[in-house]
Formats: sequence, C-alpha cells, structure tokens
Amino acid sequence: MDWPARTLAALRCPVCAASVAQVASGLRCGAGHTFDRARQGYVTLRAGHGRSLNADTVDMVAARERLQSAGWYAPVADAAAAAVSAVAADDGLFLDLAGGTGYYAAAALDALPGWDGVCLDLSTPALKRAARAHERCVAIGGDALRPLPIVDGAVDVVLSVFGPRVPSEISRIVAPGGVLVVVTPLPEHLSELVEAVDGVHVHEGKSERLAAQFPAWERVAREDVVAPLALTAEAARDVLAMGPNAHHVSVEALADLGPRDATLAVRVETLVAPGEHR
Ligand SMILES: C[S@@+](CC[C@H](N)C(=O)[O-])C[C@H]1O[C@@H](n2cnc3c(N)ncnc32)[C@H](O)[C@@H]1O
Ligand SMILES: [Zn+2]
Repeated sequence: MDWPARTLAALRCPVCAASVAQVASGLRCGAGHTFDRARQGYVTLRAGHGRSLNADTVDMVAARERLQSAGWYAPVADAAAAAVSAVAADDGLFLDLAGGTGYYAAAALDALPGWDGVCLDLSTPALKRAARAHERCVAIGGDALRPLPIVDGAVDVVLSVFGPRVPSEISRIVAPGGVLVVVTPLPEHLSELVEAVDGVHVHEGKSERLAAQFPAWERVAREDVVAPLALTAEAARDVLAMGPNAHHVSVEALADLGPRDATLAVRVETLVAPGEHR
C-alpha cells in the first residue's frame, strides 16, 4: 500500500536523518539504510536494536484493547478528538506519540477528514493493532525518548495520551503555530481500583510540569474529563492489567477483584507552539 506523500515527507532515517522513500520491502533512506515493513504493515524506524523495556507487553495491549473496544475510554477519546479538531486547520499531519493501539489516533482522524496520521510506539503488539487502526494512519515503531524519526517542523498536531514524551523533540518536530494536545491522569483517576489492590498511584502536579516543559507555548484550552465507571469484574481486572499495576499486583489480588465503581479522571490540555502556522 502506498503511504501518503505528506506522511513519507515527514519521516526521516533514524540512523542518518536523511529523508526516506517507499520501496518494495518498506522504507529506504538516501544513504541506503533500509527498514522492513512488517507483515502487519508497520515499519520500525529505530537505530540499532535498543531494548524496549517500557514497551507494553502482549497481555497489557490485549487488556487495553478490550477496554477501548468496550467503550470504557470513549469519554477520553471524545475529549481528545474534540480538543484536536477545535484548533486544527483543514488539513495537516497528525502524530499520536506513544499512541499504543492507535485508538486515540483513529478517533482524532475521524474528526479530521483532510488529515493523515502517524501512530508511533515502541511496543510490537501495539503496533500490530495500530497498523490497522485507521485508513489514514500509518504505524511506526519508534522510541519517544530518543530523537524521533521525524523531520523538523513536519507535524501539525501531536497528541500524547498517558505516554512518555521529550519536550525538546516535540518542539523540534511541530510546525510553527502547531498544536500539542496532552492527556494526563488526575490524582483521582481510577484511584478506587488502585486502593483495592494496594497498587501504584498517579502522581500529582503533572499539569504544572507540562507548563514548565513548554514555557514558550501558549495553553489555549484545558478540560477535566471526570466520569463514573461501573466496571464489570473483567473490566476492573483489565484496567489493572494494562497499566503500571500489571507489574506490582499479585495474580491473587487480581482474581479476587469483583465488579467495581471507579472514577475516570483525566485532564486534556491544548498548547500552541510559538510562530505563525503555515
Ligand atoms: C499508558 S500506554 C498509552 C498508550 C496510548 N496512548 C493509550 O492511551 O491507549 C503507554 C504507551 O507508551 C508506549 N511506550 C512506552 N515507552 C515508550 C517509548 N520510549 N517510546 C514509545 N512508546 C513507548 C507503550 O508501549 C504504551 O503503548
Ligand atoms: Zn539513513
């Protein structure tokens, strides 16, 4: 399948930073570095074979996908898509950074008819799903904590939902006047579940940290999304199985968990980069 010209023009070689073109096997840069397309359609643009310590595992991605397809996170997807479309021009390039399964990318692209999208993540099981998340979205294997395989100023909107990000890299790849939408958990996010299993709590103060990370950007919107969730026993287990608690909570504690009322509580913030948008 041919990738959109705009998407290809935005990608760069992770080894030498040269531009890339599509070839039969995947992508190739001008200096001859090649990156194979996986059978499922994604291409990994990473230099070397660094370890993927923080990438979501098969079980975490499966739990996340069950929750997303059952609609538990629809209020977050709706709010993120609304935040993106409120500031977006008629067309452009959208990046979901550490986008996981591409669930939020798909919701955003549905709200951005003239746009193309990239979902970048480190997790192979997530990329397999992201590659078929939306017809206008490609999936790229990449490390959000390293120089991104993306050309300076090539992206119009970056979405970051619960994922790692490096402010200097986001500032580099976003076009002047471009947009960053960040979704972070509020302290009360799913805290009932975390308390039930004595798990890992969300840290407070993420919003202040975001403003400090992007001092030259203007915050144009901020919305807190708070919704009660009457989780089934399976959904409650999946919430814990997909996140940091997967590594901390015992199998027995998860098995004992019945249906639970919990609170979904996230903050959606929209920042605009300095400069005049093209
Ligand atoms: C909490 S999940 C959020 C995924 C997605 N944004 C969502 O909300 O469904 C964090 C994601 O970051 C990915 N990840 C972790 N470290 C990463 C890194 N250094 N670079 C890119 N992705 C990373 C994981 O594989 C996982 O998909
Ligand atoms: Zn190269």
